[in-house]
Amino acid sequence: MSTHRPVSTAPHLDMEHEIAELRAEIAYLRARLAQNPNSDMKDGEWPTEITYGQQMRSLTQFAGISKDREAIGRTSEHHELPQPTRDQAQLEADFIRWGYCLVVDAMTPSQVDALVERLLDQSEAERTAGVAHVTHEGTTQFVPNLLPKGQVFRDLAALDEHTAAGAPLLETLLCKILGNDFYLATAHGSIVHQGGGIQELHQDQGFVPLPHPPYPLYSLVIWALSPFSLEEGATYVLPGSHRAPDGANLVHADTDFVEFAKGKLLALDMPVGSCAILDSRLLHAGGERTAPGMRLASRILYCRGMMRQQENLIACTDPIVDQLSPKLKRLIGYYSHYSLGMIEGNRIDPAKPKVPIGELSMSRPEEFEQDFDFRHTKFAEELAQDDWNVWVDYRGPNEE
Ligand SMILES: [Fe+2]
Repeated sequence: MSTHRPVSTAPHLDMEHEIAELRAEIAYLRARLAQNPNSDMKDGEWPTEITYGQQMRSLTQFAGISKDREAIGRTSEHHELPQPTRDQAQLEADFIRWGYCLVVDAMTPSQVDALVERLLDQSEAERTAGVAHVTHEGTTQFVPNLLPKGQVFRDLAALDEHTAAGAPLLETLLCKILGNDFYLATAHGSIVHQGGGIQELHQDQGFVPLPHPPYPLYSLVIWALSPFSLEEGATYVLPGSHRAPDGANLVHADTDFVEFAKGKLLALDMPVGSCAILDSRLLHAGGERTAPGMRLASRILYCRGMMRQQENLIACTDPIVDQLSPKLKRLIGYYSHYSLGMIEGNRIDPAKPKVPIGELSMSRPEEFEQDFDFRHTKFAEELAQDDWNVWVDYRGPNEE
């Protein structure tokens, strides 16, 4: 049973990728033993074997450090750390110094209400329809692929100020972080009940081969649709873990997250209606909620414009999709790579769109019985095998 599989933006590995990753790690370590780690030249001799494809990734280190509750502090108790503000100069300084910043009043109370209403309705409908991503023994629900699930989500992801009053400020900051013409990478909702929410420590760009460039490739916006605190299931952060004063990265191939983070993890305090903007090199983890009730959030990830293929291969081959071999489909991006390219958190083949999960509502229960693609995925099968999970109606594999 795997009740703590990664949800959210943590790099996700299935068994096949995990084995591949371990093999690559062994090859990498062998190569490192044989050479100076700072150079691939040995005794002035150029290497002759190509090892560029075997670079390590930071991924997620399953060390359990985020479970040591007694060692977790609170960001609000450290006055040098970012505090919620609308002052752009302060937000920029905070982001550079600590790897994150907090935007206060990023949503008005009525804007929060609109997002919460749609998120709760969609999530309840997904549970009732048997297509929900519920983990952590029923205490955590992940609502992936928000774009088809409501106009209010589309507007939030597009940084529309009618949905989030602080969106223009967010857009200005994201352009400064990622360059103009950045892309949307992920938009999902997150619901955490008492006892749920914990994740292992990771970087959101943990699937990028190391060493990383000296700037973030991604930036995550965590929209607080309910208050964030240690008891309420706030994200844990390791402030300043993204870079050194000279701009060098602090996470390397041999970084031990436990040693690095010991005694320094803090729960991210922020009021409802605010949002956090994270540098994707910052080490962080989902935090456990111990209070009754729910912690509601939307996590929206943006990436640099260059993080994509040169030609829009999926769009231009759409009319001839029946002529594409499985190998060519993989090459042009139909299947996922780590946690990249997923649909509903799965490797659903977009060339066979039977019934994608769209906007569901408790007011339209007649839509719940549809034969959604998700019902036939390996992930749904795994979820359905959890003995507490009554929210997944797995219907067997689809024929290839
Ligand atoms: Fe993350």
